[in-house]
Amino acid sequence: EKGNYRHFMQKEIFEQPTVVAQTLRSYVRQLEQAVALPQFDFDLSGINRVTIVACGTSYYAGLVAKYWFEQFARLPVDIDVASEFRYRDPVLEPGGLALFISQSGETADTLAALRHCKAAGQTIAVVVNVPTSSMAREADLLLPTHAGPEIGVASTKAFTCQLAVLAALAAHLAVKRGRMSRAEECEVVAQLIETPSALNAALAHDDEIAAMAHLIAPARDVLYLGRGQDYPLALEGALKLKEISYIHAEGYAAGEMKHGPIALIDEAVPVIVLAPSGPLFEKTVSNMQEVRARGGKIVLISDAEGLAEAGEGCLATIEMPKVHPLIAPLVYAVPVQLLAYHVACAKGTDVDQPRNLAKSVTVE
Ligand code: F6R
Repeated sequence: EKGNYRHFMQKEIFEQPTVVAQTLRSYVRQLEQAVALPQFDFDLSGINRVTIVACGTSYYAGLVAKYWFEQFARLPVDIDVASEFRYRDPVLEPGGLALFISQSGETADTLAALRHCKAAGQTIAVVVNVPTSSMAREADLLLPTHAGPEIGVASTKAFTCQLAVLAALAAHLAVKRGRMSRAEECEVVAQLIETPSALNAALAHDDEIAAMAHLIAPARDVLYLGRGQDYPLALEGALKLKEISYIHAEGYAAGEMKHGPIALIDEAVPVIVLAPSGPLFEKTVSNMQEVRARGGKIVLISDAEGLAEAGEGCLATIEMPKVHPLIAPLVYAVPVQLLAYHVACAKGTDVDQPRNLAKSVTVE
């Protein structure tokens, strides 16, 4: 039931602090300040490579995880969308972990890729929201998200719960491989525990985002820019917007702008920039200047520090809490979801049942 909400998608966006906390309870031992996976028989310390396969929003969660596995666990990661992976004869060597991410656990291409990897002798890990699904049954290592049923066709709470599990998995692998000290593990746990309150702080901007929706709703095209682990969020923001508002949107790595997409920029193309302050911020600010010099209108999503430095002259800004890089992708997911949601409402589209889309894609 939708309760006080107008749409399931809206309800599910607002459930995120609760369901992310619920999911993390299975992956974090708060008293011991340790990450811990659900009980299983494998020793992951021998893993030498990770292959991530998923579709759509779940694939974008995998893209974020690639940064984390490489950065924290120093594990090489290959990642692909399932419909490509299956048909490209990927190199799968012994000792590999194949990781599948899916809300439904039934997406046909992802399931076929799982079976392909299993036949090729990979250890199969699955991050899945439906515990009775085919993927859950066929996993060696089942990593459930506890998002509860996701009814809105556009995935929201499943995504942030996937990210929470993947962050814990990255930390677990890092500890197992001797790449993360006890002090660093404690820090990761502390950050993960902070996530629900950071999500609440992000949700507090709902009214403000609703009020700016009319600035985006008339656009024919919208660009989303991000860098590093926030680049997949740009892709996710664009996907959410196109799915439910039918506005053409593209996500780009901020530094790629000048290699082509900048040709699209004019006053009519809003550019949504996702950029927490930090070591890469200056680079993104110079990309913003390139956009502005061509008349582009920017919506900057950043923290207080970032907005103080680069908020001036923007069409609009959305202030996120200042968070650790590990949880930034979860927190920045909220404003892009809300923006897509309110733009779709402003356009009067069917938010929960967008045209041409099905909740679970069980055909190839
Ligand atoms: C986007 C969306 C789709 C799914 C994709 C994978 O909002 O819902 O892109 O993410 O179809 O579905 P699952 O995660 O069920 O495998």
